[in-house]
Amino acid sequence: MIIAVDGPAASGKGTIARALARHFGLPQLDTGLLYRAVAEKVTRMELDHSIEADAVAACDFDDALLDDPVLRQDEVGKLASIVSAHPLVRAALFHRQKRFAAQPGGAVLDGRDIGTVIAPDADAKLFVRATPSIRAKRRHAELRAQGSTLSLDKVLADIRARDLRDSTRSTAPLVAAQDAALLDTSFLSIEASVQRAIELVERQVALKAERDAHRG
Ligand code: CDP
Ligand code: CDP
Repeated sequence: MIIAVDGPAASGKGTIARALARHFGLPQLDTGLLYRAVAEKVTRMELDHSIEADAVAACDFDDALLDDPVLRQDEVGKLASIVSAHPLVRAALFHRQKRFAAQPGGAVLDGRDIGTVIAPDADAKLFVRATPSIRAKRRHAELRAQGSTLSLDKVLADIRARDLRDSTRSTAPLVAAQDAALLDTSFLSIEASVQRAIELVERQVALKAERDAHRG
């Protein structure tokens, strides 16, 4: 069973993907971390994030980098959004994500283009969203807990800029797959979001089984 979870920053997709993985007993891949690792390596190599060849040179990062807490920083998310717009960077990370999705038993992947590009045939697809101001409040609370003093207004401006960059890029823009179930978490607690996600996945899986049975 492959479950695709997409959505913008701080919509709750990571929380939901982790809970789905636990619930269904599947491995999970946070694909945003891959782009964050490339961004961080570009920084360490003192190269330019906006130059495609520079970002491509950073795509062979060491797997240990994926565990580095520095990747969680807001600045790295912003730089990840810049390197992720380069088509050759997306191509370089494509097979790794495909392989993860194809493992026996299935997987949960979360990101921006899982339901559209990485796993268009996923058994269940969720597009998680929430209003920009609620997402900014969530991200702001997380950053404060990490000791950041960024203002809520600045976090909101950053979220809007990232939404715009991610949804207007020409390759694999952030967009809900046509067959994705929409899950708006704006006014849902974490528990309620997870419960709703499980219901939506179960419904999609049941419908797919029915369709497959009809096809014989
Ligand atoms: O957790 P948050 O949504 O803030 O960020 P993330 O999922 O770690 O993704 C960081 C950046 O990587 C995003 O702004 C996207 O530009 C990019 N990304 C992408 O292009 N495709 C994916 N499948 C995942 C992330
Ligand atoms: O992965 P993504 O950036 O989409 O979001 P996340 O890391 O799952 O969630 C961002 C923050 O929102 C986390 O601190 C979650 O605990 C919180 N959250 C929430 O307050 N209410 C929800 N319904 C979902 C997530």
